[in-house]
Amino acid sequence: MLAGFFLSKYSSAMSSLVWVELEAGAPDNNLREIRRSHGFSGIHCAVLKSNAYGHGIREMRTLVDEAHWLAVNSLDEGLELRGLGETRPVLLLGHVDLARLSEAREADLRLIVYNSETLAAVASLPPSAGQFRVHLHLETGTWRQGVLPEDACGFAGRIMNMPGVFLEGISTHFANIEDTLEHNYARMQLDTFEKVCRDLSEAGIDPPVRHTACTAAAILFRNTHFSMLRTGIGVYGLWPSRETRLSAETAGLPIPALRPVMTWKTRVVQVKNVPRGCYIGYGCTYRTTRPTVMAVLPVGYADGYRRAAGNVGWVLLKGMRAPVMGRVCMNLIMVDVTDIPDVRLEEEVTLLGSSGDESISAELMGSWCGTINYEIVTGVSPLLPRRIVLGER
Ligand SMILES: Cc1ncc(COP(=O)(O)O)c(C=O)c1O
Repeated sequence: MLAGFFLSKYSSAMSSLVWVELEAGAPDNNLREIRRSHGFSGIHCAVLKSNAYGHGIREMRTLVDEAHWLAVNSLDEGLELRGLGETRPVLLLGHVDLARLSEAREADLRLIVYNSETLAAVASLPPSAGQFRVHLHLETGTWRQGVLPEDACGFAGRIMNMPGVFLEGISTHFANIEDTLEHNYARMQLDTFEKVCRDLSEAGIDPPVRHTACTAAAILFRNTHFSMLRTGIGVYGLWPSRETRLSAETAGLPIPALRPVMTWKTRVVQVKNVPRGCYIGYGCTYRTTRPTVMAVLPVGYADGYRRAAGNVGWVLLKGMRAPVMGRVCMNLIMVDVTDIPDVRLEEEVTLLGSSGDESISAELMGSWCGTINYEIVTGVSPLLPRRIVLGER
């Protein structure tokens, strides 16, 4: 599967001006590393929602052999995976239109359920040969999707009485496990989850697949693991936050050796000598202070290169930093290459990733733009070609 894909993508990426490279071995390495931290041996679900956090769902699916399950947000993402021939269990984390529930069942997609209207619509589906596997999503303090703890037994009881519907799982999601060194809130959520699981068990209801652990939880707290990890950002080789890393180090936990999967590249489309005193780009926000060699790059905010990086960020050429001059345009940025020798037309440029000894991480780019690594990678345009590259970078 991988070899064919690699060949088919290779030529289109080579001829394009902006593209994404995915390190073939990194996602499986990251899955193994996350499990290794605490010796987890249960089910590992890789979260591939939102175009696999911007990496490309078609490509990432082929790179996560070590994942036993996949999770996506929408029905359409789930159907896309099935259309690509994906046979692993797929869990839908988002709302499915009531009118389209039968499509989820026919494609054998697992559904997270948390509202009565969805249950009623599931109950009124015509009988089918297959089972509809659902997971009760519990509200424990994130206050978004979820059944209130006091309603959980009644809700689960309704599911148990539905012919053709199997309550396969119970789940929750942590609100404040990435952003802090102080984990009392997560502990409170975990206590609530465990109490509801006990109440259900006393009522004779024991959904076999229990899952709460996003990446930070998987790395930091063994007691969040239950039967399945549900990790996203770590699969892409990124840490959820500095606080997560610091929490792990402070607690003396094993540190997973995560390898970033994505490198984002472009090529120079013009090299130009600009005299001292010229204004660069829209709004005249940058003025050259010396005779400057400028490179124009064919990437802009339409590609996901954030406007906030204007006058703040830099790119890498030949392992050296070239600062972004002026505003980021829709399809272009201009960078200062005065101090980089012999920059040529169509020279390769690294927007995100490593070049020589230099590296621009998604965290660093996020810091330029007042956001987090999740938003940086997820924002990379799905229209750009993805190229799978072999070998560790
Ligand atoms: C319900 C749910 N589970 C798991 C994840 C994965 O979280 P992370 O990327 O922090 O591992 C997410 C991510 O947003 C999520 O919304």
